[in-house]
Amino acid sequence: MSDRVRDKSEADSEADSNDSVWKSERGVADWVSGERRREQRRSEQRRLLAELLPFGEDEEFRFVDLGAGTGAAARAVLDYYPRSSAVLADFSPQMREQAAIALGDYAGRYVYLEYDLRGGPWPEVASAGVPAVITSLCVHHLPDERKGELFAEIFAHLTPGGWYLNFDAVSTDDPLVAATWKLANDRQDPETAARQANLSPEERLRHENHLRHMIPLEPQLELLRAAGFEGIDLYWKQLDFVIYGGRRPAVAG
Ligand SMILES: C[S@@+](CC[C@H](N)C(=O)[O-])C[C@H]1O[C@@H](n2cnc3c(N)ncnc32)[C@H](O)[C@@H]1O
Repeated sequence: MSDRVRDKSEADSEADSNDSVWKSERGVADWVSGERRREQRRSEQRRLLAELLPFGEDEEFRFVDLGAGTGAAARAVLDYYPRSSAVLADFSPQMREQAAIALGDYAGRYVYLEYDLRGGPWPEVASAGVPAVITSLCVHHLPDERKGELFAEIFAHLTPGGWYLNFDAVSTDDPLVAATWKLANDRQDPETAARQANLSPEERLRHENHLRHMIPLEPQLELLRAAGFEGIDLYWKQLDFVIYGGRRPAVAG
């Protein structure tokens, strides 16, 4: 059994630690301290997520970023489409504080709202429908039933023809695949590999929280199909990281 699979089953038996990880000064400070280094490795996929959206580069549109954190995904879209504006939403006051710093150059182009992915009311400002919703590195924090409900809520709040894209990590049920992902990930990022071999209690909590509800790719695509999306694809993949998504049909059918 791989470390990742073993860690996941151990973590499953513990209480959900999402709040203690993401609503803690220390947990968020720890996460933010590694953000610049992590984002350097993600610039290609951040940009691709923006490129996948079917807007003209000068088009004016509003999009929603759920579980937005410091806005790394939203910033990529705001950069690519200079006339776009964003509704960012997250449940963590600490992440929203960090976002105010990271989004300093985007003043006037975004609003940042409180929202709980586990079932909070949809951001009011976007209740009339938006042409794009993105999520990044947060759907894996939700139990499977809620993942499906969230996809259905996103579908319901997209205007016809609107797109949903998700950048996230996935797991695998195959220990050989898990070991192969780990080998390549460790070679590409030896610093993280060294740190994972010697985690502090806070880092271990965050690592376990990260794995708790992570599932393979295919059931997530199935949830998108069940929600009614079309054009569903795995638009990008590298080892355990993926971008998938789909579109609300342009004509109700
Ligand atoms: C790994 S960070 C990713 C942040 C950002 N989307 C990015 O790509 O950098 C996970 C984010 O999900 C948020 N989150 C976790 N559980 C949540 C929940 N139940 N409701 C809203 N946000 C949640 C956390 O506060 C955090 O900002």
